[in-house]
Parts: sequence; C-alpha cells; structure tokens
Amino acid sequence: MSKRVAILTSGGDAPGMNACLRAAIIKCQCAGYELVGYKHGYNGLLDQDFVSLVSETTHNLIQQGGTLLHSARCKSFKTDEGAIKAAHNLQKAKIDTLIVIGGDGSFRGASHLSQFWDGQIIGIPGTIDNDIAGTDATIGYYTAIDTAMNSIDKVRDTADAFERIFLVEVMGRHAGFLALNAAISAAADYVIVPEFFSSEQDEINNIVKQIKARRAKQGAVSFIIVVAENVWPDGLHGLTNQLVKNGIDDVRPVTLGHVQRGGSPVSQDRLLATSLGEFAISLVGSTHNNVMVGEVNQKPVIVPLETTWNSTKPLNEAQVNTMQALMNGRYS
Ligand code: F6P
Repeated sequence: MSKRVAILTSGGDAPGMNACLRAAIIKCQCAGYELVGYKHGYNGLLDQDFVSLVSETTHNLIQQGGTLLHSARCKSFKTDEGAIKAAHNLQKAKIDTLIVIGGDGSFRGASHLSQFWDGQIIGIPGTIDNDIAGTDATIGYYTAIDTAMNSIDKVRDTADAFERIFLVEVMGRHAGFLALNAAISAAADYVIVPEFFSSEQDEINNIVKQIKARRAKQGAVSFIIVVAENVWPDGLHGLTNQLVKNGIDDVRPVTLGHVQRGGSPVSQDRLLATSLGEFAISLVGSTHNNVMVGEVNQKPVIVPLETTWNSTKPLNEAQVNTMQALMNGRYS
C-alpha cells in the first residue's frame, strides 16, 4: 500500500547521516512510498518546511559529511504546544510514518510527539557520542574516533619534539566511548572518562605518579592524556593548572571540539547508516511503533524508544581493561 513517509535529522549532526538518508530514499522509491524530508530537525516540522526526497538527490551523497536536511536542537518542540503543532502539521501533510535520525534527546522529543499524533514513529541512532542504549554503535561514532585518533597522532609529533605533556579533550557529552576508543587507537598514555572518574585528587595523583615514573626511567618524555569533555570540573585549563601546581610543567591543552563532527564517513559508519536506513523503511506500515532500530552483534534490532534514555550503555569492558592494563603496565 502506498505510504507517505517523512524523515528528519535532529541534534548534533554526525558523519553518515547522509548515507542513511540515501538508503531511506532509495528504499522508499523501491517500495513505492513518497518520502519528504523536514529541514533543520524538528524546526522543519513546526514550520512545515519540507522537501520531496527523490532518487536524484542520492547521487554522490554517501560520502558527504553533515546532513542534507540540516539539523538543529529545537527548544519549542519540547513543549506541549510545540508537539501539538507538529502533530497537526503531520496530519495536514498526510504523513503515515516519521523517521527521526538523532540521539536520545531527539528520541525523547519523538516520544513526546506520540502523545499527540497516532502515526508511526521510528528512530535511527545518529550521534558521534555512541551514548544510546539498545545499539552497539551509532551513526557517526566510528568516523569521530578516526578523526580524534588522527588529531592525536598529530599532537604526538609536536609533543615528542618538545617532550611535553598534552591534554586532548574529545567530545562525548557525558559518555566516554569516544575518549576511550580514541585513546586506545592513538596510544595515548592516560585517559579520563566520566564512567571511571573517581576524584580530581585521585586522577592528579595517578597522572603525576605515572609521568614521574616514566621520566625516572626514560628522562624527558612526552605524555598524552585524553580527557572526555565535561569530566574535569574546570575543563582542560583547570586540569593544566592543577598539574602545574603538582610539579608537572610544560603542559599544553588542546580541545578538538566540533572538528570531530565533520568529514566524510568511514566505511563502518556508511555500512551502519545504510543498513539502518534500509531497515527502518522496511518497517513502515508494520505494527512497530515508537521504536528505534539498531544493531547488536551485527544483527538488526528493534527496541522501544524509551530504552534509549532509560538504560545506560556501559563502556566495552574488554576495552576498559586493555586501557587500564596498558596505563599501569607501562608506568607503574
Ligand atoms: O551530541 C553530539 C555532540 O557533539 C556532543 O559530543 C557535544 O557535547 C555536543 O554535541 C555539542 O553540541 P553543540 O553542537 O550544540 O554545541
């Protein structure tokens, strides 16, 4: 049966969102569905700002970072008035299914909307943070790891040249997935993530101990500490000052920031985005509603939307052990 499907990208953009849109567009065309894309996240839904997505749009799209539909964080959509307006607009546009590509904040918004709209809602996880329970990975995460890793490789060149201590802040909002993976893949010497943050004093004592042990063995050396954003109370400058106060000088802070959100998606993100985009459209018209599609052990899964914010996704235990073993093994 013919369906009218709408799709939007919401919250922090992530490399691979375009690859996901591409798969959804092609799949809709094959199924004979009409597909429209709301622009600027939920803002487009409130302003009836949408475009028709046809297969010509998909040319040269898979490798592009950012999102064709643009993205936004929309405060007014969070209110009842906003959600009611959006529901009204969806009815007016005769939309059967709304697909939301975004993070848990976007899924909460979608769930709120479902109180006022009886159409079908399907979420697709897209965020560099990978902080969404119910799926092993989120679209954009793998590319962000690569970007952070490549940046840390470059930092290492200058760190080594001057035998300096570098603090590299990576994104992740309140989760350490990106920081931990960037640290392991770039062979950083130390990592600070929210999941294992004990206290400022403990971390400082540990870092100072490790740097001193390393200096005692090898003389002047570089030392790279990856720090997840929002963990250190006063940010990188606070940590820099505390290290200096504890006798560690020549410390340089580097914040990678939004550079981690950009760039052409790596193959893992393209694969995940394409599978999830295709899978989401295959559920159009089914009884699955208010769900997110994801991947667990390389298999597609369907989970209730609220799983994404009701449960906390733990860091990979094996990776945590690896990082800890290397930190202690090398310098204790
Ligand atoms: O959720 C993705 C993310 O990039 C986080 O890692 C970061 O904390 C946040 O978005 C930054 O948001 P904004 O682009 O609105 O400053």
